[in-house]
Amino acid sequence: MQDRKFYTEANRVSWNEAAPRHEEKNQQRLLQDVTRTDFNALEPELAETLNRLDIQGKRVAQICCNNAKDLLSVIKMGAGSGLGIDAASAFIDQGNELIKATDYQDKMELLVSDVYDIPNEHSEQFDIVLTTVGVMSWMPDLSAFFKVIHNLIKPGGYYIAEEMHPVLLMYETDDHGVSRPLYSYFKQDPWKDTVGLDYFGHVEYESSPSYSFQHKMDDILMAGINLNMNLKYIREIDRDISNFCMDLENQEAKPPLGFNMIMQKQG
Ligand SMILES: C[S@@+](CC[C@H](N)C(=O)[O-])C[C@H]1O[C@@H](n2cnc3c(N)ncnc32)[C@H](O)[C@@H]1O
Repeated sequence: MQDRKFYTEANRVSWNEAAPRHEEKNQQRLLQDVTRTDFNALEPELAETLNRLDIQGKRVAQICCNNAKDLLSVIKMGAGSGLGIDAASAFIDQGNELIKATDYQDKMELLVSDVYDIPNEHSEQFDIVLTTVGVMSWMPDLSAFFKVIHNLIKPGGYYIAEEMHPVLLMYETDDHGVSRPLYSYFKQDPWKDTVGLDYFGHVEYESSPSYSFQHKMDDILMAGINLNMNLKYIREIDRDISNFCMDLENQEAKPPLGFNMIMQKQG
């Protein structure tokens, strides 16, 4: 294992390389969609999870917000303000363009930062911290990631996570589009990927290396429990919410594909 910064810096470069590909595929449509009053990019399960809390007027931070379409959706649902944080400046640029197309410029702010370097001025500023699908596996140190989240939340506030299920990360799709388990659930060394992060078009390209990590369900829950956070809700999801091994949702012997979780910081 290298040190944490080695991995997060490599991933920042790789995500910035992916950004123009995502932009080409999605940005024009999103620029129109975000102006609609009923715009909501969230998966229905996540919208339901958010509605378990009273989000009206609340301060929300989304870590690894990408182009902020999910944070924009949360603001449209009634949250008072949103801070989006992502290491890849190219995605933050896309997010700022989307925000500019809406009436939410006074309610939303985006920050370019590595998760592990979020400035202290944001400590205990948020009622809710949100991460949406595809974040935890980019974290070389899950315990430190939870400490960052815990630090951002006001006492009594909540962490809401929507994630790929760790069992799903055992799978890989072959050239015929069939996904099978290839990796141990208990894998400890990172995956190194040089074929790019185009999870929309699934077009492979020679990219700078990115590194992702398996975090088992007990690691995820214990990272919160070790900070005295209370698990308030967990839901496993049987649909594809990540564009990863998408054929699995139609297999009879279906693994869990995603989950939603609410944890509360002690007041
Ligand atoms: C799979 S995307 C999340 C997509 C998001 N759910 C959405 O719907 O747009 C993962 C994001 O995490 C960001 N990221 C990865 N590692 C990071 C880190 N260490 N600090 C901040 N952002 C990071 C990437 O730049 C990328 O935008």
